[in-house]
Amino acid sequence: MDSIIVRGGAELNGQIPIAGAKNACLALMPATLLSEEPLTLTNAPRLSDIRTMTTLLQSLGAEVSALAGGKVLAASSHGLTSSRADYEIVRKMRASNLVLGPLLAREGQAVVSLPGGCAIGARPMDIHIDALERLGAVIDLRDGYLHASAPAGLRGARVPLRFASVGATENVLMAATLAKGTTIIENAAREPEIVDLAQCLRKMGAQIEGEGTATITVQGVDRLHGATHAVVTDRIELGTYMLAPAFTGGEIECLGGRLDLVGAFVEKLEAAGLEIEETERGLKVRRAAGRPRAVNVVTEPFPGFPTDLQAQMMAMLCTAEGTSVLEERIFENRFMHAPELMRMGARIDLSGGTARVTGVERLRGAPVMATDLRASVSLILAGLGAEGETVVSRVYHLDRGYEQVEQKLSAVGARIERVAA
Ligand code: UD1
Repeated sequence: MDSIIVRGGAELNGQIPIAGAKNACLALMPATLLSEEPLTLTNAPRLSDIRTMTTLLQSLGAEVSALAGGKVLAASSHGLTSSRADYEIVRKMRASNLVLGPLLAREGQAVVSLPGGCAIGARPMDIHIDALERLGAVIDLRDGYLHASAPAGLRGARVPLRFASVGATENVLMAATLAKGTTIIENAAREPEIVDLAQCLRKMGAQIEGEGTATITVQGVDRLHGATHAVVTDRIELGTYMLAPAFTGGEIECLGGRLDLVGAFVEKLEAAGLEIEETERGLKVRRAAGRPRAVNVVTEPFPGFPTDLQAQMMAMLCTAEGTSVLEERIFENRFMHAPELMRMGARIDLSGGTARVTGVERLRGAPVMATDLRASVSLILAGLGAEGETVVSRVYHLDRGYEQVEQKLSAVGARIERVAA
């Protein structure tokens, strides 16, 4: 397994291009299953999770090819051959469950493995199941697989979600596009990736209103057609690189960045003493003189502070002046980066879903281990600001969600390299 070596202390200056959103692309790709006509996605990120979804869709009989070096995905599902998402693929990536809704809608059946445990929490599927059952699906759990069928076809219904789950909203939204009648999703997730999916589905002929609000209304249609859609900017990659100057000083312009994607996050960055400016090409961030200031953070569904930026924010607060309190409310076990940061000299007290971080002057480089996707990038950021050398091992997590991280960071002055094991 590869490691990444970071030598801390270099100021960062320059531009970083932000890719299309992994999480949007992972929902847009299964939308191809809803139509016999081709779906073309542009601005796709080049990530291992996208290759995993490609393999899954191909295993169902869809044709998916990566063009322009992976930035364009051309998909077509005119002749599906299977409705089964195998454990071997699903266990690698929970987002594989996003084929459930589209397969049910198009084929009237789906067999999808339960994802199993995941490093950051239990992540059950109950909200997805309840939502699809309200549309008339019959779902049983056998041999670790959800066996879903819609004997009489899916029918539009009122679908209140007990929690605004991103994946469940996406699954039921896709299923409802081909259901008979009207579906009203209540307490829907409002993330920009849901808006992006709804916009793409509308290009495919779906009738959807209210995306980006808590109530989404879908009027089912008989069939969807082909479309071309550009994947929205990755707000998590954006937020990650916006944090970099807080660790190193300097000024970074994130190309393609948009304030509406990172509102709650930007408020916290400004409170911590970073200066953010909208430019013609994106968002520019610089650190005011001195250490950042402590801030308190609570993770929440969009438009709140995203859980996917909590690890990176914690790494930054390790050298802020004062004590910060971070509360993780989305996942029950998402502080695995904390003990690794403590190996670099951070002062963190964990208690349940709360972390109290007392800033120290400087972190010191150390060998650390990446435990999940966002944790791994938080350790790289910490290494950029630390004294000496940080070696981050198990970086395969990183490749799931960050394209060309070493290239993007070294282009703005970071001393970072990948070492193959
Ligand atoms: C998506 C994102 C992930 C992000 C998360 C929260 C993708 C591919 N992944 O994950 O990066 O961290 O949103 O913003 O888009 N839950 C249940 N039952 C369910 C479904 C979810 O209890 O049926 C719980 C989960 O365990 C978790 C919480 O709800 O505690 C949020 O999960 P959800 O919004 O569904 O996240 P994902 O769609 O899996």
